[in-house]
Parts: sequence; C-alpha cells; structure tokens
Amino acid sequence: MKALVLTGTKQFEMQDVTTPTVKDDEVLVNTAYAGICGTDRALYAGLPGSADAVPPIVLGHENSGIVAAIGRNVTNVKVGDRVTVDPNIYCGECEYCRTDRPELCDNLSAVGVTRDGGLEESFTAPASVVYPIPDSVSLKAAATVEPISCAVHGVKLLDLTPYQKALVIGDGFMGQLFVQLLQAYGVHQVDFAGIVDEKLAFNKEKFGVTNTYNTTRDSIPADYDVVIEAVGLPQTQEQAVEATKKGAQVLMFGVGKPNQTFSMNTYEVYQKQLKIQGAFINPYAFEDSIALLASGQLDVESLISHEVSLEQVEDVLNGKVEHVSKAVVKVSD
Ligand SMILES: NC(=O)c1ccc[n+]([C@@H]2O[C@H](COP(=O)([O-])OP(=O)(O)OC[C@H]3O[C@@H](n4cnc5c(N)ncnc54)[C@H](O)[C@@H]3O)[C@@H](O)[C@H]2O)c1
Ligand SMILES: [Zn+2]
Ligand SMILES: [Zn+2]
Repeated sequence: MKALVLTGTKQFEMQDVTTPTVKDDEVLVNTAYAGICGTDRALYAGLPGSADAVPPIVLGHENSGIVAAIGRNVTNVKVGDRVTVDPNIYCGECEYCRTDRPELCDNLSAVGVTRDGGLEESFTAPASVVYPIPDSVSLKAAATVEPISCAVHGVKLLDLTPYQKALVIGDGFMGQLFVQLLQAYGVHQVDFAGIVDEKLAFNKEKFGVTNTYNTTRDSIPADYDVVIEAVGLPQTQEQAVEATKKGAQVLMFGVGKPNQTFSMNTYEVYQKQLKIQGAFINPYAFEDSIALLASGQLDVESLISHEVSLEQVEDVLNGKVEHVSKAVVKVSD
C-alpha cells in the first residue's frame, strides 16, 4: 500500500509498504481523510508537536476512515464501521494519568506523531482511541474531530454561562471553530478579531458574530468576560489580556515559540481578578465533538479550504500551496 513517509527533516518519500497487521487490542483503519495542521508543519520542520516525531514515521494525527480489521479483543467497533481516531495514547500509570489529567501524561504517545498515522492507505490504532461516527457526519468532517476536540477541551476549562460576552482572536480554522463552539455552549454574544477582512465578514454573515475587529487597524474595547487567543503571537496574547473586563477568563490556546514571552499589566490581573488558562490537546472531548457535528451545531466543511492528495502534502506543509485555511488529504475513497 501507499505511504507518505517522513524520512528526515523536510523530507518525504512516497513508499510502497506492507499493510500493518493488528495486535489483539488494535484496529486497522483504511484511511479516508487526514487533516493537516500546524503540528504537522512543526514535525515536518523537525520541531516537536505534542511529542517528538522520529523519522521514519508516517504523519497524520487527524483522520477518518473505515475499519478494515480488528484484533481478537476488540469489541467497540467492527469491520466496515466509519470511524475517527483520537491520536493521543496515555500511559495510565504516571502521576498525571492517575490524577485525572491524562493530557499531561509523562509518557504521551500519539498516532501520526510517535507511531504511524493517516498519511498512508491503512494504519493501526489501539481500539480505545477509535470512535465510530454516525451516518450524518461525513468522513471529511470526521477528519476534523481531533482539532475540534482540542477546542472543546479548551472550552471545558472555562466557566461558560449565557450572559457572557466573548471574544475570539485569530481568524484561522481554530478561531472559527471557537466562534461556533462558544455559541453552542450558550454564550450569548461572540465577537471575532483577525486580520483577513473576508473571514471577518464571512463569520458575521454565516455564524452570526456580533462585532468584528481587524487587529491591524481597530482597537478592541476592554469589555469581554471570555477571551480566546487562537493565534499564538505575543501581540495577540497581549491584546487578549487587555480586552478583558473584571472577572474575565482568558484562554491562551495559540501555541507560541518555545522561548516566547509577552507582557501584561499584572496590577490588572489583580484588580480585575483575571483567570489566565492554558490548554493542551484534547482529553475526554471526542464524544462531544462528534455530537456537535452530528447535531449540526458545528459546520466544518465550509471552513475546509483545500482538499489535496498525498502527493500534494509536502507543498501544503512548505507553503507552496498558498492561502490554506484548513487542508484535508483525501487518502482513499
Ligand atoms: N492548545 C492546543 O491544544 C492547540 C490545538 C490546535 C491548535 N492550536 C494553536 O491554535 C492556533 C490557531 O490554530 P489554527 O490552526 O487556526 O492556525 P492558523 O495558522 O491556521 O491560523 C492562525 C490565524 O491567525 C490569524 N492572525 C495572524 N496574526 C493575527 C493578528 N495579529 N491578529 C489576529 N489574527 C491573526 C491568521 O490570519 C490566521 O488565520 C495556533 O497557534 C495553533 O498552534 C493549539
Ligand atoms: Zn492537528
Ligand atoms: Zn501517563
């Protein structure tokens, strides 16, 4: 079968490899779609994602497909089921796993990061991370359940309630997911800040965003109960804290560079009693994400800007394909 193998930093090779066989607790998935995100860009460039990827490795931690075989102990899915896979595999034995914070696991492994993922025609995963999807959810949409789950995890770390006014900073795929998620979680007003006027207008029209700000020219009032930063730059992190009113919560979702810092007025952290919250990956969020897609509360297909082939993946990662908002790879039918 065909596999796009990362063989070194910024090096891919299309290889003909043997289809993997399942262990007793594993599922073999024929990949339908694999999503590409900033983590893949980092791994391609030799930087760590949620964990280190050591070549040769097949990336593709966001994926969907059809179950092709199951190990003898597997009972949660059967051959032919349409599924999506949570890439993150927790050890269950470390301090964090044993205190209900598995995302902070000291021994995290992940499909498409530390073991082969969806950028090949078939891959295996432990049955415990394989989730069936309902007929109403397309395989293309199902390939985005992993990033949706990261956003759902972020939202669950906040105390959300209908009276709140929220601001999302960042007009990428994740920011646009957060707009819809905050609405689905009942927040009555969601505003949106970015740098691409078309995306700001699109979110106003399609998702009912109230106010939009282009951060290159508009100032943002200090008026928000909830601010989600989904860019990862020092200036947007500063803007996120500055946009708060008293009692506000800030979700620092964007990923900065490892040594990045930003400044904030610490007197205001005291005087406004701010909560500043990080978010790492996506524990216990797949069921909610699938339900949000199935109920139509989340529309992801209109946010997918590119559908590409395995042969085009490298050009997406190295930037030759421009204006990518969200790309999914169609691996097989
Ligand atoms: N915490 C997690 O578990 C987790 C999971 C997934 C993604 N992320 C992070 O979330 C962030 C967003 O992800 P994405 O996939 O949407 O990334 P992306 O690169 O596709 O989007 C970033 C967006 O930010 C916008 N932007 C750039 N400068 C801006 C500015 N000054 N003001 C406002 N908007 C600006 C860009 O127009 C772009 O649309 C990234 O940093 C990503 O690494 C975190
Ligand atoms: Zn991802
Ligand atoms: Zn652990």
